[in-house]
Amino acid sequence: MKTLTLLLIGILIFSCGPQERVSKEAFDDVQRNNEVKRITEVEILQEAMFWGDSITKEAQAQLTAQLQQAIAANGHSGAIDFCQVNALPILKSMETKYAVTLRRVASRPRNPLDAPDAEEIPLLDAYSYNAENNISSNPSIQKLQQGEVFLYTKPIVITNALCLSCHGDSKKDIAPETAAKLMERYPQDKATDYALGELRGMWSLRLPKKEVVIRL
Ligand code: HEC
Repeated sequence: MKTLTLLLIGILIFSCGPQERVSKEAFDDVQRNNEVKRITEVEILQEAMFWGDSITKEAQAQLTAQLQQAIAANGHSGAIDFCQVNALPILKSMETKYAVTLRRVASRPRNPLDAPDAEEIPLLDAYSYNAENNISSNPSIQKLQQGEVFLYTKPIVITNALCLSCHGDSKKDIAPETAAKLMERYPQDKATDYALGELRGMWSLRLPKKEVVIRL
């Protein structure tokens, strides 16, 4: 590639003869392009972290806004129908928008599709360990497929009482009507009996390296 570039510059310089101004501009162009491409691994990782934060924040905001609307319109038990139908498609639409893979995973999932895969299990375990030992967790990035894909993860914590109305103490926090609806829709539900501040799961976002580099 370098030889080709030099050859190209050579041809431009020598073939243009007196028009040296033109060939100098062409040379500067090539130089500038080369500089643009000189991106360090650290910059790529920083961008992956930044992008991961921004996509998961956008997804969280969308889920929360739509969940609140559904609760206002149909109450908690009605909102369960909404979540069952819409939670995964909301994430799917973001996957398409950004050409990434986006999931929420949990070791005690409500939807069996949200069980962690082999690459996600150790990260979820690490967040659980930290939560149990009162160590704060930051988002993290792992390299997959020889560094061609970045796995961005971020803990999801039960932050407010709203969560408890569907994920809290099955006798105290969850209304009987809601509990019945959960039983009906999610016969294998494991996502109850959480307390405020407890780890509920994590965001799992796979970012292709080439999509990250395009952003730089
Ligand atoms: C109206 C009831 C309701 C409320 C309130 C609610 N959730 Fe959920 N949650 C659900 C349902 C239903 C699912 C399963 C969605 C699906 O089938 O894709 C779910 C799934 C999840 C998942 C994906 C993992 C899994 O278990 O399948 C996470 C993480 C989660 N909820 C976190 C929260 C947090 C954090 C809050 C509070 C901000 C919250 N939820 C509030 C009903 C609720």
